[in-house]
Amino acid sequence: MTTEDEDAAATEVLAGLARVPKQIHSKFFYDQRGSELFDRICELEEYYLTRTELAIMRAHAVEMAALLGPRVTLVEFGSGSSIKTPLLLDALEEPAAYVPIDISGEHLEATAKKLTARYPEIEVLPLWADYTDAVKLPATSGDAGRRAVYFPGSTVGNFTPAEAKDFLRRVATLAGLDGALLIGVDLDKDPDVLHRAYNDAAGVTAEFNLNLLARFNRELGADFDLRAFRHHALYNQGDGRIEMYLISERPQTVRIGETAIRFEAGEKILTEYSYKYSLERFRRIGAEAGFEVRRVWTDDDQLFSVQYLEVAR
Ligand SMILES: C[S@@+](CC[C@H](N)C(=O)[O-])C[C@H]1O[C@@H](n2cnc3c(N)ncnc32)[C@H](O)[C@@H]1O
Repeated sequence: MTTEDEDAAATEVLAGLARVPKQIHSKFFYDQRGSELFDRICELEEYYLTRTELAIMRAHAVEMAALLGPRVTLVEFGSGSSIKTPLLLDALEEPAAYVPIDISGEHLEATAKKLTARYPEIEVLPLWADYTDAVKLPATSGDAGRRAVYFPGSTVGNFTPAEAKDFLRRVATLAGLDGALLIGVDLDKDPDVLHRAYNDAAGVTAEFNLNLLARFNRELGADFDLRAFRHHALYNQGDGRIEMYLISERPQTVRIGETAIRFEAGEKILTEYSYKYSLERFRRIGAEAGFEVRRVWTDDDQLFSVQYLEVAR
């Protein structure tokens, strides 16, 4: 991060920690180490999301590509390691450009390089950006067809439903009148399955969560003692969401730069929501944002869905 980025990050983190209850925006998970830890989470036995979405993509990529059409500019939000994207790129008819957007800059560059080598005929234009801000797409050189937005991983679940609506509204504007959206949405299910997915036995999710504090020590001059906080994730059935926290093990004072922050024993910092949807609840959010759901693919156990939406006319 540049000094300016660090100042902006410190201001945002301090504002979050001044709230009651304390919170840190989930986008701060993703520095290089956070991206690596997320990739490890995707391989965990308990984390059904990635393998289930990959299986849905493998089974239906041809149909998805046919719906998206020829010569698309594929814009991916929160692309990470783009592990699902090749399934789509291989099935699409002459895709014109691929624009992966991610906040984890180094990781994005490395992934884009690999994809450029693998797909020399596709223009790969990585965009290092925070998609909660307005995003301006880079110009493509050729004359491209339709704009198709890809948003896998159920990352949409990290927004509250109201935020998801606002975000999808911006996606609809960016996609344009004949725009399309292919999105991964995690579904309501047995709370035990969810609990295991976010509390893996190997402790990788705990490490991912605690990396937030390690990152602030590295980048923001903070002095968090990582042994004095622990990972906690629970499924809030009423609100249909996983809530992830870091809990202070004892009364303590932590500094970020010049600012002192007081924690009581047992005090929580909210670090992530992960909303789980019914198909109907997500359909309504899409509709309020200006999208119509045209096709839904799920696995046999209805754990996860990939949905094709078009901008409503
Ligand atoms: C849950 S991971 C999903 C990664 C990948 N799409 C997948 O399906 O496996 C979320 C991704 O979104 C990125 N991300 C999170 N918040 C972001 C933000 N505000 N702006 C841009 N990228 C963000 C992270 O860096 C990470 O790569």
